[in-house]
Amino acid sequence: MKLKNVLMVAGVLGLGVSAEAADYRAGEPPAISRDALAKADYVKGRAAFQARCSACHTVGEGADLAGPNLFGVFSRKVGAKEDFDFSPALKNAGFNWTPARLAAWLADPENYLPNNNMMIPEPVPEKDRLNMLSFMMVESGAADWPRPAVANANAVRDPTKPYAERFPSFWNHMMFNTVRYAFERPGQAEYIVDVYYNTDGSVTSNTKGVDGFWHIKDDGKGPAMFCYALQGFAVEPGVMVECIPIGAMSIPRFNERLWKSKGYKDQVINGGILPGRPQASEPAKPVSPDKTG
Ligand code: HEC
Repeated sequence: MKLKNVLMVAGVLGLGVSAEAADYRAGEPPAISRDALAKADYVKGRAAFQARCSACHTVGEGADLAGPNLFGVFSRKVGAKEDFDFSPALKNAGFNWTPARLAAWLADPENYLPNNNMMIPEPVPEKDRLNMLSFMMVESGAADWPRPAVANANAVRDPTKPYAERFPSFWNHMMFNTVRYAFERPGQAEYIVDVYYNTDGSVTSNTKGVDGFWHIKDDGKGPAMFCYALQGFAVEPGVMVECIPIGAMSIPRFNERLWKSKGYKDQVINGGILPGRPQASEPAKPVSPDKTG
């Protein structure tokens, strides 16, 4: 019998399990105060989350990746999100996530909730944990303090550096995934197009005739803007020209419907981002995650 099974049986029979494996049953770890969380460094927390967690999790409203979407995680039971196939370790944990509980897990990912399926290579270092939890609370809808105004804080404003270095998370998010536009107008069938923003400034799509170009406007005064012009849509007016602050596109979020904008007359344009692309449209690689942030 594998050790894992022995521990599970021992747990079920109430025989007492090894001290290390039983940690989480000992009750709530020391609370982390709301003030400490509210005052923590959101930007550092975001960088740590992007580097260590975002490959497998979205934290704003979004899709499951290899790990479950974490929106609302601090108001749900461990392992309870519908449609996600959790390990028994999480399903049977029997408590709600709190910042203190999650900090304890991230400090000891293997032994807190023994036999869980979250394969992270190492514990989250102590210096990052509070910041990461603070960022996660803001993004998952659990914070009762305002979102810090840091839209552009991760941009390195050195115009001689390539965009990939100046805006790494924006770059990784937009240049290697799919943007989906769904045009709605009363009385008309929905019209959906998938668009690919390419690193050479071109925009291609899955629909014949739809293409365009993009550029970044960064005069050092206002926030850096991502601007694009698209043409060839089969619905009026057939073109789209927009500028969006880069900060708004920096946090990986995957969902078919992330934003809505007003289009032509009573048209509504839904925009969303889906992970990946049908096939690599170019050889460039995302920049390494430790530069993200
Ligand atoms: C390699 C992919 C991967 C990485 C990286 C990863 N996770 Fe996970 N995460 C998972 C999987 C898979 C599960 C479900 C585990 C299970 O069922 O045992 C999970 C579960 C969770 C849960 C529980 C969700 C719930 O509803 O109970 C939280 C919270 C979480 N992860 C946070 C994080 C944080 C914070 C990081 C970064 C430090 C991180 N994860 C990094 C894959 C990952």
